[in-house]
Amino acid sequence: MPTVRDIRANAGEEPITMLTAYDAPTASIVDEAGVDIILVGDSLGNTSLGHENTLPVTVDDMARHTGAVARATDDALVVADMPFLSIGVDEAASLENAGRMLKEEDAHAVKLECGPHTVDLTEKLVELGIPVMAHLGLTPQHVNQYGGYPRQGTEQAAAERILELARAHADAGAFSLVLEHVPSNLAADVTAALDIPTIGIGAGPDCDGQVLVVDDAVGLSEWSPSFSKQFGNVRREMESAIGEYVSAVESGEFPAEEHSHEEGELEDIY
Ligand code: KIV
Repeated sequence: MPTVRDIRANAGEEPITMLTAYDAPTASIVDEAGVDIILVGDSLGNTSLGHENTLPVTVDDMARHTGAVARATDDALVVADMPFLSIGVDEAASLENAGRMLKEEDAHAVKLECGPHTVDLTEKLVELGIPVMAHLGLTPQHVNQYGGYPRQGTEQAAAERILELARAHADAGAFSLVLEHVPSNLAADVTAALDIPTIGIGAGPDCDGQVLVVDDAVGLSEWSPSFSKQFGNVRREMESAIGEYVSAVESGEFPAEEHSHEEGELEDIY
């Protein structure tokens, strides 16, 4: 199993693979495929809980799904995302919420959507033994601030701010950095400037690793962002299997004799 030290040491070495998972069966498939890091993302809100964005996701939601993923994972590093307002409002609550993911749910690390407010918190979490994956660029918990999900760091000042915050979180002890939806030349510059690995999503090919939302990668999502890629069509497979099930029940073809059991002793129950 890669530890956070292994992941940290991987900057500039073998590409790091990361996928999200939110439940035990998906986690076991992702783990068996040899993915290095499983992120229990707060994208859970969109993919699995039917919300429009990640803001309604609670610490309890994250804890329940992180536990399910951790129980089904033997090899990958499990990282729990900290949901909206679970960190950054009050230090004691932030530490308790993040600590819960390791103490009660067996995660190995937490991910924070970062800003200036998470530099000291990162240092404190790391000091306490809670490894931190930082996340900069597009941070979806700011959807209302952005008015959508636009690419970040497209102007000089914004790009410099991302680089500065990336350095600050690396210095504070984060073991890796997710860069979401930023120009690939900015991601390349950030990657070159840091001695911790960057993991990109919509950030081009020069990051040390890549992450996708699993529902997008396997083709289960109804919609996925342009920077994502479908490596399968699980939605079509499910539609076809479920359609066949409905037809088989309606036609009486299912259950057939081999799916049924007749008990000889029960001939005269009336
Ligand atoms: O919540 C999530 O799935 C994420 C990834 C897209 C990085 O933050």
